[in-house]
Amino acid sequence: MGIITFIDINGQSKETIPTNEVNLMQLAVNNNILGIDAECGGCCSCATCHVVINNKLDIIPKAQGDELELLNFVPNKEDNSRLSCQVLIDETLNDLIVEVKSA
Ligand code: FES
Repeated sequence: MGIITFIDINGQSKETIPTNEVNLMQLAVNNNILGIDAECGGCCSCATCHVVINNKLDIIPKAQGDELELLNFVPNKEDNSRLSCQVLIDETLNDLIVEVKSA
């Protein structure tokens, strides 16, 4: 698995390498990325794992269903916003750049 780069809530960039994490939220939490509080633990009910996907937009699908409904309540939602707990990690995410947003 390759590198996934997070830009934290303070604008600091950090490269991470997934090991056994299932989704981007877990990867961020395990790497102490500032701004990912993940209060609901990944149940898609808090939006405190809000991120914006900065590249690979042809591979990463846009939010749908419950995730999209929750994102609609987030004031700083952008076109490429996702809840990081809903983005599953696989080899296609190599070189992904993820920008953390506050909920
Ligand atoms: S951790 Fe709560 S919605 Fe993602």
